[in-house]
Amino acid sequence: MTAHALARVVFQTSRLGDFASQKQLEKQTGHAVFDWLRVTVKELIDNALDACEEAGIEPVIDVAVADDLSITVIDNGPGIAPDTIAKLIDYSSRVSSREAYISPTRGAQGNALSTLLAMPFALDDSKPGTTVIKSQGVEHTITFSADPIRQTPKIEHTREPSNVKTGTRFTTRWPYSACSFLADARSKFLHLATAFTWINPHLTLSIAWELGERIAWTIAATDPAWRKSLPSDPMSPHWFNVERLGRLMAAHIAHGQDNPDHPVRTLARFVAQFKGLSGSAKVSAICEAVGATRSLNSSATAGSPISRGYSRKCRTKAERSSPAISE
Ligand SMILES: Nc1ncnc2c1ncn2[C@@H]1O[C@H](COP(=O)(O)OP(=O)(O)O)[C@@H](O)[C@H]1O
Ligand SMILES: [Mg+2]
Repeated sequence: MTAHALARVVFQTSRLGDFASQKQLEKQTGHAVFDWLRVTVKELIDNALDACEEAGIEPVIDVAVADDLSITVIDNGPGIAPDTIAKLIDYSSRVSSREAYISPTRGAQGNALSTLLAMPFALDDSKPGTTVIKSQGVEHTITFSADPIRQTPKIEHTREPSNVKTGTRFTTRWPYSACSFLADARSKFLHLATAFTWINPHLTLSIAWELGERIAWTIAATDPAWRKSLPSDPMSPHWFNVERLGRLMAAHIAHGQDNPDHPVRTLARFVAQFKGLSGSAKVSAICEAVGATRSLNSSATAGSPISRGYSRKCRTKAERSSPAISE
């Protein structure tokens, strides 16, 4: 190196930057900025429905777009847990109770809330944007802003006590510069909300729109007892191919390594989670057929030989013993 050579420093940049610009968020959401109201409302109603259905609660959801440009979705579900919110704002990883599973849930990426939290910031040329989540007796205020020295986005999270003990109340406030995106999206928004009630007969949905011409209506559930196949129902082996099965096994193994109380610690327990395979005779036959050891806690278990044999065996067993299993 000569005396004048530039000693380059390897700078570390935050992954938050991946969420902080309109361009990046358009990539993350797969939608152009003028469609973000629909993205927001769809993701929040999806989450609310998933949470209510998982808890066996008839969903009652309120959606409001107010004249202060806030978008609020309120549900009557079990509420979003404080530690889930803490993990959501850690942008180095994804958080989902659904990602590794194949199930009839609407959410599966563990990415939606992280993108919604970044939208007000990205919409206002990097000015601070705030989202408030009230749930389980805690009011979380999450502010997306920029660090002036580092020129990187930063996120702040404060907690206060809240009187919201039931359900989740999610409010994100868009900047005035995004007013036209909201106003122009009105008819698409109403169409989306109506579509939710068509395909979810158990849903009671209230809508309030306060920008320009005011709209307020409620569509009551047409069939409150309607029951969708739930994420907590046993999974059908037919939903899985070899790759997806290996993915689920690997997720269980990793989670088991990090959490000694993890309930799925043996291959037998893993097998018994599937629809039509909970009987001990079927479980033993499958474990025997794939030559598996008792413990699931081995990185080799998720590898090809066992997951391949297991997938084949699940399908043939299930097809033979219960031809009615088809989703
Ligand atoms: N309204 C809600 N009520 C309860 N839990 C929720 C709610 N919204 C989100 N969550 C929790 O936050 C997690 C992350 O949500 P999200 O980012 O939309 O990812 P995904 O829905 O793909 O799992 C969900 O998996 C769920 O555990
Ligand atoms: Mg979701």
